[in-house]
Amino acid sequence: MIRAHLTIDPHFTIGPINRRLFGSFVEHLGRCVYDGIYEPGHEKADEDGFRTDVIELVRELGVSTIRYPGGNFVSGYRWEDGVGPREERPRRLDLAWHSTETNQIGLDEFATWTKKVEGELMYAVNLGTRGILEALDVLEYANLRSGTEWSDRRVANGYAEPHDIRMWCLGNEMDGPWQLGHSTAHEYAQLASKTASAMKQIDPGLELVVCGSSGAQMPTFGHWEHVVLSKTYDNVDLISCHAYYEPKGDDYGSFLASGVNMDRFIDAVVATADHVKAVRRSDKTINISFDEWNVWYQSRYNEVDKITDVAEWPVAPRLLEDSYSVLDAVVFGSLMISLIRHADRVTAASLAQLVNVIAPIMTEPGGPAWRQTTFYPFSLTSRLARQVALELKLDCPTYATEEYGDVPIVDAIATRDEDGGPTTVFAVNRSLTDEVTLEVDTAALGAVAGAEAVSLFDDDIHAANTLGDPERVTPRANTSIEVGEGTIRITLPPVSWTALTLD
Ligand code: AHR
Repeated sequence: MIRAHLTIDPHFTIGPINRRLFGSFVEHLGRCVYDGIYEPGHEKADEDGFRTDVIELVRELGVSTIRYPGGNFVSGYRWEDGVGPREERPRRLDLAWHSTETNQIGLDEFATWTKKVEGELMYAVNLGTRGILEALDVLEYANLRSGTEWSDRRVANGYAEPHDIRMWCLGNEMDGPWQLGHSTAHEYAQLASKTASAMKQIDPGLELVVCGSSGAQMPTFGHWEHVVLSKTYDNVDLISCHAYYEPKGDDYGSFLASGVNMDRFIDAVVATADHVKAVRRSDKTINISFDEWNVWYQSRYNEVDKITDVAEWPVAPRLLEDSYSVLDAVVFGSLMISLIRHADRVTAASLAQLVNVIAPIMTEPGGPAWRQTTFYPFSLTSRLARQVALELKLDCPTYATEEYGDVPIVDAIATRDEDGGPTTVFAVNRSLTDEVTLEVDTAALGAVAGAEAVSLFDDDIHAANTLGDPERVTPRANTSIEVGEGTIRITLPPVSWTALTLD
């Protein structure tokens, strides 16, 4: 039996958890928008053509900000194509995903949908094939009340109220060779800096996210962040991080330790941002928008799915429709633990993506919608996480991984409201074979009246929810809890994710 020991003290806080940490991402990619959130012919479609079953699931998931419209898609996107009378909207080639974009959904419709799911729209401008002027135009269209060319056009299009978008991404993954118009750090820094400064002339209160490298594995990582922040520091508020994880072959031990990679990634970007701050003698702190993160089996796609005959680029093809297992959901849950552990500096995050495309929610055209395994760690963390992240003292054995050296078998984080109330602990057991008895020292919390827990695990770590069996995997009450004097004990099954609430 493996034992782990956790001490919680509410005086040791990491920082407030910004609700934007529970954001997501909707890109015009595959069936995320069309046949995902929008399917006018579906029996559950509302008056605007949006699937109400999907809306309900998105609400249940508990997402806050929703990044839109891309992703790689945005670097070839003309936002004007997606506004105004639908019958006049052009069909365009989407070079990012070799698809045809019908533009039946654009900024106005998406803003309407965002309200229906009770989310906050976060908008990315195209800095791949476009520039400052188009960014200013879309800002004017979205946020100005009326009295100018673009704001009046929005009103004429039937949207009298401004969308009032507060968070804006300055392009997407501009260092990636796959990105339309990708550039060097210096080129991007110039454009981002000028665009940010122009946008802030319209509204100095905007929160602008500048592109970090598209991943910590990029050859330019670190240097890119340094160059870009050095040039844009005064005009931007956040820098983006993107990370996707998948197992290498059957090295599940390393895969289960993906959170270690995410922790190191965040620490490196924080260090770089603070280095630039120090050099500039600035009082301002740049935080992180981790605006793409997930498990993604990239090795299964790439060339296989790309349709190359330009005359046949389809509308809303099935792309990147990963089916997620219990193993994937446990890794996913551990990534959420990493994000919360850095709540003082990661003040926004977007699960990429939301529906059908590497998503927690799947749909079938004309058919049902269902929750993937990854739905549960997200919805439970979003629902149960309290206001403040707590620093923990965790003593537990380690195991050897090929990628990250020796890694603790258990990872955990706790949260609590500023004025007390229940404490929630989120924990993963990364062992492929062994249960762990987790002993939680609650002495500093005062009297604990009771505790309850749910865990996600299965004898078959590859079990998944599918169209044919949509509830194969669901979280189960963990009844192993023993409440003692100043301690609580709970058993964590092998390869499991657990949410424990202490009252
Ligand atoms: O989320 C899928 C893609 O991953 C996004 O379009 C891109 O930004 C990233 O490379």
